[in-house]
Amino acid sequence: MDWEFVRGLPDMPETLLAVEEGPISNGQRELPGTAAMDYCRIAPDVKLGNGVRIFAFVNLYGCSIGDNSKIGTFVEIQKNAEIGRNVKVSSHTFICEGVRIEDDVFIGHNVSFINDKYPRATNADGSPQTEADWSVVQTVVKHGASIGTSSTILCGVTVGEYAVVGAGSVVTRDVPPHTVVAGNPARVLRSPEKK
Ligand SMILES: CC(C)(COP(=O)(O)OP(=O)(O)OC[C@H]1O[C@@H](n2cnc3c(N)ncnc32)[C@H](O)[C@@H]1OP(=O)(O)O)[C@@H](O)C(=O)NCCC(=O)NCCS
Repeated sequence: MDWEFVRGLPDMPETLLAVEEGPISNGQRELPGTAAMDYCRIAPDVKLGNGVRIFAFVNLYGCSIGDNSKIGTFVEIQKNAEIGRNVKVSSHTFICEGVRIEDDVFIGHNVSFINDKYPRATNADGSPQTEADWSVVQTVVKHGASIGTSSTILCGVTVGEYAVVGAGSVVTRDVPPHTVVAGNPARVLRSPEKK
């Protein structure tokens, strides 16, 4: 995406100023801070709150991101995904349509969400599937929860308030509030104090 397109975002100058201020380096040469946005695609239909920080190589379309949230490098967030306030999304994470992440949630690196349990590329007659063939199942991550690095969150689950999902987990069922779960499939390890 080109820089002009990014600058075309309506009424959001403070968001653009918040992107990787200062020089960045690509290992070969110094680039001006704004160059980071040359490698982001933020579609015009994205709703960004105040003070959102977005790092390089991010792809956002049709989603909403609340105040003061941070979106790490190589993250993709699809349409109809909702990210609350003060959320941290670490690099290489994929947040698909149908996911709602409440305020103060931590999402680790390389976390994947899912919205269709039985995906297919083609129909029975061999024709390519379209969006109309895709069934979106909702997933919710409640206030204050943390999702560990490289976890996969299957669709239709709720991760409860202040729950912690261990690194590398596959979450197949609802996670009760304030519990720590881990493993594949994720099982309760313990119930921590609320922090
Ligand atoms: C799940 C987690 C919170 C548990 O921490 P803890 O309460 O200190 O647990 P312990 O290290 O005492 O381990 C308790 C047991 O759970 C197991 N365990 C811990 N983390 C696990 C994980 N991610 N997956 C599977 N099992 C795990 C341990 O092997 C141990 O099993 P054992 O009793 O049979 O020996 C932590 O290990 C974790 O994965 N945190 C996520 C960190 C993360 O992804 N950060 C991202 C930013 S860097």
